Amino acid sequence: MSKSIIILGIESSCDDTSASIIKDGKILSNVIGNQKVHEKYGGVVPELASRAHLQNIIPVVHQAIEESGIDKKDISAVGFTRGPGLLGSLLVGVSFAKSFALANNIPLIDVNHMQGHILAHFIRDKNGNGNPPKFPFLCLTVSGGHTQIVKVNDTLDFDLIGETIDDAAGEAFDKSAKLLGLPYPGGPLIDKFAKDGNSTAFTFGIPKVNKLNFSFSGLKTSILYFIKKQTKENPNFINENMNDICASIQHSIINILMKKLEKASKETGIIEIAIAGGVSANSGLRTRLKEMENSHSWETYIPPFSYCTDNAGMIAITAYFKFLESDFCDQSISAKARMTV
Ligand code: KG4
Ligand code: ZN
Repeated sequence: MSKSIIILGIESSCDDTSASIIKDGKILSNVIGNQKVHEKYGGVVPELASRAHLQNIIPVVHQAIEESGIDKKDISAVGFTRGPGLLGSLLVGVSFAKSFALANNIPLIDVNHMQGHILAHFIRDKNGNGNPPKFPFLCLTVSGGHTQIVKVNDTLDFDLIGETIDDAAGEAFDKSAKLLGLPYPGGPLIDKFAKDGNSTAFTFGIPKVNKLNFSFSGLKTSILYFIKKQTKENPNFINENMNDICASIQHSIINILMKKLEKASKETGIIEIAIAGGVSANSGLRTRLKEMENSHSWETYIPPFSYCTDNAGMIAITAYFKFLESDFCDQSISAKARMTV
């Protein structure tokens, strides 16, 4: 029997420090150290994020190795997020991965964070079970920093066919939540309030954007003016209508996303449709995708919650596929804040 491939994955692109062990494509551990320091600032403070990564990285990696039950000396390679992300945050993960590879004399694999979000669909559980999409498929990748439609031809073959021209969908959630006085990250809170609200109580316009691209800045402005106008008439407007406001905002964001995903499917003829990234944890989006499966004869793929938001499992699985291709990097590699899929 050939030797197992064991990958240590490291993710530190934004405000979560994460490490994961994947053995032959099966996940053995996926530890995430969340940073709470940003809540009161209404967004991620880069300087605080990199400091917290420095404190978290060693304990998080230790825990990931311990939970996996493997021996450190059996690790075949270390995969890390090279970008895109916050430079100071990325540097912590990149430096750690380089030192780990050097100290243990194992190959180093750089991973594109956006490819990681997509390939999270290929993570199998400890028993080898999983439900990966079939190639080619379309993936709507929606996170705090990106909103993209990607045509995925093979595990490491991606075509970016649409993206946002301004804010990302996650930003639209977070900035709207901030207008409502909710803490960062506001996406999950909007989702929570929306569950008990009427999604057609208030309407916000849908932007007109070319091709398969998205725009969310107009929506943010119209929500801002709407809130200003309503609170002038009734200072308690937000508290009295929180559920309906959140449901209506969520409905508008999902409409913008689905309109373009539908167009992408029509234009490419592809009906294997996946979602990925932090916003794919949104319950309204997940429900809508399932409805589209029935009405459009799509085959849809929704990742488990733990693989939606940033985690090192998605980095480790991508590194695993690159390992199979002997696609390694050397110690001269550096972090890259801006990268396309
Ligand atoms: O992928 P991710 O963890 O980090 C980035 O790469 O950006 O995505 C984080 C984004 C945040 O904007 C957060 O508000 C959003 O995902 N998010 C959600 C939900 N859970 C996370 N947005 C809406 N509904 C959710 N349930
Ligand atoms: Zn992400």
